[in-house]
Order: sequence, then C-alpha cells, then structure tokens
Amino acid sequence: MQIRLDKYLADAGIGTRSEVKNLIKRKAVTINGICAAKPETKITPDADEIAVNGSLVAARGLVTYMLHKPAGYVCAVKDDRFPTVMELVPQNRDLFPVGRLDKDTEGLLLITNDGMMAHRMLSPRSHVDKTYLAVLERPAEKAYMDLFSAGVDIGDDTPTLPARLVICDDDSQELNYLPEEYRAYSDSGRVVLLTIQEGRYHQVKRMFHAMGNEVLYLKRLSFGSLVLPMSLKKGEAVCIEALPVM
Ligand code: URA
Repeated sequence: MQIRLDKYLADAGIGTRSEVKNLIKRKAVTINGICAAKPETKITPDADEIAVNGSLVAARGLVTYMLHKPAGYVCAVKDDRFPTVMELVPQNRDLFPVGRLDKDTEGLLLITNDGMMAHRMLSPRSHVDKTYLAVLERPAEKAYMDLFSAGVDIGDDTPTLPARLVICDDDSQELNYLPEEYRAYSDSGRVVLLTIQEGRYHQVKRMFHAMGNEVLYLKRLSFGSLVLPMSLKKGEAVCIEALPVM
C-alpha cells in the first residue's frame, strides 16, 4: 500500500500536515537516504525508510521527542497558569512528558506517545540512571558521596536508592553545560553531578536539603543511555527514533 509522504509523517506524530510540509520544504526529510522533494510523493511504509533530520520515523506511529527543557515551563499536558513543555514540540494530542522536571529545572526531557517505553524508563524496577548537574549553595562535602551511595532519608517511607555523587573540578566536561552566570563556581566544590535511579518528587533538591545544603540550579544531562546533545539549544526538540532503552 502506498500513501502520501506528508500523511505518513503526520500519522506518525511528526507534526501537523502543514508542519511536515514545512519539514519537507526545509529538506529535513529523506526517503531511503534521498532528500524528499514533495509532500505528495507516494511512499510504501513497509519498504521505504523515512527519516526526519537523520532519525528514522517509527512506522508504528510511535514518536518520541528529546526536548531541551528551559526553566519556566511545567511538565504537564495542560496547565492554567504556566506554559507547558507541550508547547515546545509539534502538536499531537497523544503526546505526554515522560516523568517530570520541576518548573525551574532545565535539561533532557522525553515527550512521547509511547506508553510502554515511558513505563520502562520510569519504573523504579528498571533502575534507569538519570544524571543531574547541580549548583549548590555551599560546597559539597566528600562525606555526601558515601551517604548518597548508602541511600538517604528524605522524609519518605523508604530511603532513596543508592546514588552516585561526583564533585566537579575545572576539568569536568559537564561544565560546558553550565550557564554563564555559574561558570565562576566551576572549581568551588559547589558544582556536582548526581546520578539517581528514581524520580521522586523534588528528589535531587531534597537529597541535598537532607545534607543541610540547597540546590540553586539544576539541569538533567542524561536519561538512560540518552545524553543531552550540546548542540540542542534550550527550547528545541528533536524527534528521536525508537529508543535504545537503558
Ligand atoms: N530532582 C529535583 O529536585 N527536581 C527535578 O526537577 C528533578 C529531579
């Protein structure tokens, strides 16, 4: 069965008909590696490889975006008070954010219509690593490392699962993600990387609070095997192919 390229892309959740026409016009779409010229081009979904910005489009109509979430947006499908992350991806009424980042947290957020993938990524049983870059109010103490790896009481029924803390120094690659205003802190012990395997409410902030410290800035750098690309600007989203989960 053959269908029009723009219909195929819209059905796959890449965007509305006019958004996908725009993508085709901007030469972002390829058919078997060759740039697609027209929205009305007929394709055979079972035989042709369609890619957007180099990423294969999942034929099942499942679509996942990686968003570089800026501060100020809430992770909800709808909100009466604040802008939502859904405003930053092409419209598709079945999409939802995979877990939550706080309104003031930046970084890697997945937005998808793939419920199974979201469940696998979020389930505490899957032990999917999430790494955060944080700027603290005061220098981190070395003792936090052992305390975090043993699990911390943050006021829930159970302590947190073991977490890994790295205190950054001037050589840390991850400092490239720090906003200009925090660059001065790069060697002060106040810039840290924390890798956790759960997604409890305000978890990173509450873990440092339990140490008598506070988080001033928070950005998620990775989620499972996915790393926030340096080239993805705040507020931008890329459509990614079926996920290499965990
Ligand atoms: N932990 C937090 O405290 N906030 C987030 O947004 C994510 C993890």
